[in-house]
Amino acid sequence: MKCKQYAAWLQYDRIEEEPIRALQAEFFSSIAASYESEVVAAAVKELCVYAKAALGTAPNRTAFAKQDRPCIFLGLKNDTDWNAYGIAAEKLLQLAGEGFLLETIGRQLYIIGGSDRGVLYGVFHLLRLLQTGSDIAALQVLEQPANSLRLMNQWDNADGTIERGYAGRSIFYENNEIKADLARVRDYARLLASVGINGISVNNVNVHQVETSFITSEGLPAVARIADVFREYGIRLLLSVNFASPIEVGGLSTADPLDVQVKEWWRKTAAEIYRHIPDFLGFLVKADSEHRPGPFTYGRDHADGANMLGEALEPFGGLVIWRCFVYNCMQDWRDRSTDRAKAAYDHFQPLDGRFHANVILQIKNGPMDFQVREPVSPLFGAMPLTNQSMEFQITQEYTGQQKHLCYLVPQWKQVLEFDTHVNGPGSTVKRIVDGSLFGRPYSGIAAVSNIGDDENWTGHTLAQANLYGYGRLIWKPELSAEDIAGEWIRLTFGHDPAVVSTVSELLMNSWPIYESYTAPLGVGWMVAPNHHYGPDVDGYEYSRWGTYHFADRDGIGVDRTVETGTGYTAQYAEPNAAMYNDIRRCPDELLLFFHHVPYSHRLHSGETVIEHIYNTRFQGAERAEKMKEQWQSLEGKIDSARYEQVLGRLTEQAVHAKHWRDVINTYFYRKSGVSDALGRLIYT
Ligand code: GCU
Repeated sequence: MKCKQYAAWLQYDRIEEEPIRALQAEFFSSIAASYESEVVAAAVKELCVYAKAALGTAPNRTAFAKQDRPCIFLGLKNDTDWNAYGIAAEKLLQLAGEGFLLETIGRQLYIIGGSDRGVLYGVFHLLRLLQTGSDIAALQVLEQPANSLRLMNQWDNADGTIERGYAGRSIFYENNEIKADLARVRDYARLLASVGINGISVNNVNVHQVETSFITSEGLPAVARIADVFREYGIRLLLSVNFASPIEVGGLSTADPLDVQVKEWWRKTAAEIYRHIPDFLGFLVKADSEHRPGPFTYGRDHADGANMLGEALEPFGGLVIWRCFVYNCMQDWRDRSTDRAKAAYDHFQPLDGRFHANVILQIKNGPMDFQVREPVSPLFGAMPLTNQSMEFQITQEYTGQQKHLCYLVPQWKQVLEFDTHVNGPGSTVKRIVDGSLFGRPYSGIAAVSNIGDDENWTGHTLAQANLYGYGRLIWKPELSAEDIAGEWIRLTFGHDPAVVSTVSELLMNSWPIYESYTAPLGVGWMVAPNHHYGPDVDGYEYSRWGTYHFADRDGIGVDRTVETGTGYTAQYAEPNAAMYNDIRRCPDELLLFFHHVPYSHRLHSGETVIEHIYNTRFQGAERAEKMKEQWQSLEGKIDSARYEQVLGRLTEQAVHAKHWRDVINTYFYRKSGVSDALGRLIYT
């Protein structure tokens, strides 16, 4: 029996209320499937796991026929005459692809998918509903995922380390090899499928030597073993590839995307990949970024590079997911004309219309790099002729590294709801990445995973909510962050009202609290170089990374206006461009991202910038301390392993938040010479 931390949100606690248990057991007495496949088998297995754990029963597998006995029927939209079973034709018409219909008729429950994946998602949705108190005798649910690509990006390396991983080592690799035992990968696939993830890249975007050979005849058999595991749960495999592969493993002297031999090499490589992994989803590519090779070496652009790979994968239906995280990482801090925030747009926007149909540009949510607060990247919607997808970061690189609590769903939700106005009002980011705004064939959302081989998967047990919430949000962006938190808590910890309300409050306040003791007003960074944990206000100030705050004795912030700054604001469509450009209209929380202002500048909130810095740092540290106390009020209501685990993290956070508070406050006191109006302790 695996522990509760490991089971995450798939606890399947025994249903204690006898009438409810008996009623569910009646439905679960038999299961019939009109379609057989590996994925449907996983769905049936899941129903049986639930029946055993929650109901204490073992369903019979029965033949698929109209019968009067209680039963759960699984099937595909097109493989049965569902009307004959009483399912309305108009409902079936609405069902497609990976969607599902759950419907109770009498003592029979129908789970009908647009495909076998749809059946699996329907089963997981059913179990979620049953665990959160829905009545099995009255189900009527029809769901279609909003995004067709719902992807996970692992930043795992073959040596077993994970780039920006905060939850142990890789579950995929050790000692430069794919693990012999992939049981844990199967458990991960199950967790991901339960929230609707349908594709995964399993190696770091920084592709090192060993991973470069994953796409060779020698490397592929082992990679195919991973693909086999994910396939059981309807998840297709992607690989991050090294643009210089033709040189590094192909024996060629160039990786020039227009070179005939290079093209031929990639074509043969693609054929070989599909021989081993027939449903391979495609390549994820980090090129010409942070010293990774790319088309620039050969005087070519990103369209040349991506299209060459697109052509190689095209005959097999594969995709190229090309990242837009391209900027000058060798900047001179003395050079005030270069602005890293502008880079992605400058590199990619002029290429609109040149990318092949099977190329998708994967764009980070903000123009910099997963800070606690950033504006939305202006590249979203700026390329109507190009497939675009979103990249979020679940792993908490800049948001407390799973030592601090930071529930990120509210942040992602804000990004998805942002109205770019590129095609008039209502041009929200979610409509760009789901493909509907410009009718793009491919689109979707990816995120950098936060899991490792820690017993609880995510380091901080409450960080499981980010993994869960990511899947739920991208399936259905209409869900609120609070609803998702509520679901997750009840699935993970049960229904005790004190637990539900306390953990919900903790999660919902955690992003604002984290923001309030770290870098202020959207300016970002101020973290220790390299590992990015803890405060170091000038840690990146004189570096080559293009991440500056420009604090001096008079003021702080980056002038990105058109008139006096870098001109970045002009990359947005109106009215956003004018709003950000205007110091009087720019939202407080992003003020220092867009403007350099004196410490005495008054915010919309009524506070001056320096008052805001001091006030929020004091409040933030206090609130972090309070979070620990709130959690302590739950002692005895949560099993001790999880209780102690979280308490340990919240204790560290409370101490560390004070450190942040003092470092930031002292820094700005020393810079500005302005004392705290409320006379609180600021170290000199
Ligand atoms: C960040 C992160 C790197 C990562 C990079 C990327 O800069 O610190 O570790 O490789 O993003 O997204 O490619």
